Amino acid sequence: MSELQGRIALVTGASRGIGEATARALAAAGARVIVTDLADTGALAAELGGLGRRRDVTSEAGWVETVAFARAEAGGLDILVNNAGLFLMKPVSETTLDEWRRLFSVNVEGVFLGCKHAAPLLAERAPAWTGGASIINLSSVAGLVGSARGSCYHASKGAVRLLTKSLAMEFAPMKVRVNSVHPGLIDTPMGGEVLSGISSARGLGDNEVRAMAARFHPLGRVGETGEIADAIVFLASDKAAFMTGSELVVDGGFTAQ
Ligand SMILES: NC(=O)c1ccc[n+]([C@@H]2O[C@H](COP(=O)([O-])OP(=O)(O)OC[C@H]3O[C@@H](n4cnc5c(N)ncnc54)[C@H](O)[C@@H]3O)[C@@H](O)[C@H]2O)c1
Repeated sequence: MSELQGRIALVTGASRGIGEATARALAAAGARVIVTDLADTGALAAELGGLGRRRDVTSEAGWVETVAFARAEAGGLDILVNNAGLFLMKPVSETTLDEWRRLFSVNVEGVFLGCKHAAPLLAERAPAWTGGASIINLSSVAGLVGSARGSCYHASKGAVRLLTKSLAMEFAPMKVRVNSVHPGLIDTPMGGEVLSGISSARGLGDNEVRAMAARFHPLGRVGETGEIADAIVFLASDKAAFMTGSELVVDGGFTAQ
């Protein structure tokens, strides 16, 4: 598969989980990938023949440098995947303002800064591709429905959903498409945090909580990182040339119930 041959992609939060799988899938589809994270991404970048940077998505100066780096070292940018995120499962009565702000600074401000600073560079090469340039923002099923103990996380993912739709309209004249992806529970370190949150809230053991999480999804299992990465590659490609402002739900039927 080489549907992204010649494209340059940037993935945030790429050292593990969905971000790492996405970087691998984009590279397998032919893209040159820039992988960033708070953690070191040097080994992954070397393995994929791409470029790596330690970056905090909440730093505006960091984004300015990252975009300059993409221009100077990779020659531009065609695909941005705003994947970095934090999770929190707490009743609102126990959520501190610092926790709320920290989560919003990564999950919402990080996406805002990435879109704001990368858009001009994405627009430069957008006319070269049938489908233009592509931004993919990681929302969640939590951006579509609520839960009793997750108000902060759900609110942040709901914000990503509507930020995506508004930017899709703002960037359409530049041929920069903007879409959100809404995974169900995925087997990653963050997925593990979700399971331990459910486990302590309901007093369930490891096996019981895993079985329950599988039952939440009509397809009877949680998702794999590669299944989200494939959806992201699709949105990045010319096959999704007429898609912008859309929400691609990849949740084993969770929100169909
Ligand atoms: N795993 C799930 O069940 C699930 C479901 C729906 C949506 N999502 C979303 O998908 C995305 C990836 O989730 P995951 O499960 O792979 O998470 P993860 O916790 O396994 O990995 C997240 C990565 O983001 C990085 N990161 C965190 N804060 C950062 C910051 N300030 N700057 C740069 N990097 C930072 C971490 O270092 C980590 O490598 C997140 O936005 C998450 O909310 C996950």
